[in-house]
Amino acid sequence: MGPTVITPDVVSSVFASRECGLLLGDAREVLRTLPHDSVDCTVTSPPYYSGRRHVGDTIHEIGSEKTVEEYVEALASVGREVWRVTRPTGSYWLNLDDKCERKEWLGIPWRVAFAMREIGWKIRSEVIWHKPGHVRNAAKDRLTPAHELFFHFVKSKDAYYDMDAIREPSSPPIWRKNGLVKAPGGSVPTDVWTIQIEDSTSPKNPYAVFPEALVELPIRATCPRGGTVLDPFVGSGTTASADSAQLLDKPRSIMPSR
Ligand SMILES: C[S@@+](CC[C@H](N)C(=O)[O-])C[C@H]1O[C@@H](n2cnc3c(N)ncnc32)[C@H](O)[C@@H]1O
Repeated sequence: MGPTVITPDVVSSVFASRECGLLLGDAREVLRTLPHDSVDCTVTSPPYYSGRRHVGDTIHEIGSEKTVEEYVEALASVGREVWRVTRPTGSYWLNLDDKCERKEWLGIPWRVAFAMREIGWKIRSEVIWHKPGHVRNAAKDRLTPAHELFFHFVKSKDAYYDMDAIREPSSPPIWRKNGLVKAPGGSVPTDVWTIQIEDSTSPKNPYAVFPEALVELPIRATCPRGGTVLDPFVGSGTTASADSAQLLDKPRSIMPSR
């Protein structure tokens, strides 16, 4: 059986089903088939810039561009479509890593972030994802890289944000004879998240699966109950996993993949 062509009918049935749907194809092309203002929250991790192809001669593989400028433009073309499909109160969470060439960091995450600003996205948070014990560094003249960036972009200053869904206990609860007497309101999480990478994200694994914990806060905070989550680079499907779906009363997800 050949692949299903993504027609408006196919897209509407994905939205109507309120279940997780997988649309197969190049993110830039598949996103064009989605309706305007239909997504609440996008959480994604595009391929890193490597200048190399990983999956043969596929011409659309993002990350294989010859220059950083072309890579930034490829992510900008995805960012423009994500902007179009995102509701006015929506969010776009984008995980990006940098690359060091000839002993110089290229500054890729911020180059992409500024390209997003050109589109209209406002940078609400710059999260440092601290990855303990990630990379063994044999270099004699630079520090061991142990973080990636995770940008939270919003369409407007009135973007949906459920802070109570992500507060951290600020002090231990107090227990008395008749039970819990003080349930702390909780503090606002910081923008430095220490999250261990999954085994499958080892440098030997080209699919770079990201940890479920990385998806949790974005969905809890910025997708309303029953909302729609999008991942244009779904990979192994972390954003679409059962655990993610349960985070918010099963928000339905739609994901272009390849
Ligand atoms: C960093 S991985 C995403 C990993 C994902 N977050 C997970 O947890 O498995 C990036 C994915 O984007 C895919 N990809 C590369 N170019 C693409 C394109 N043009 N359209 C859609 N997906 C693409 C890669 O094959 C890879 O699966």
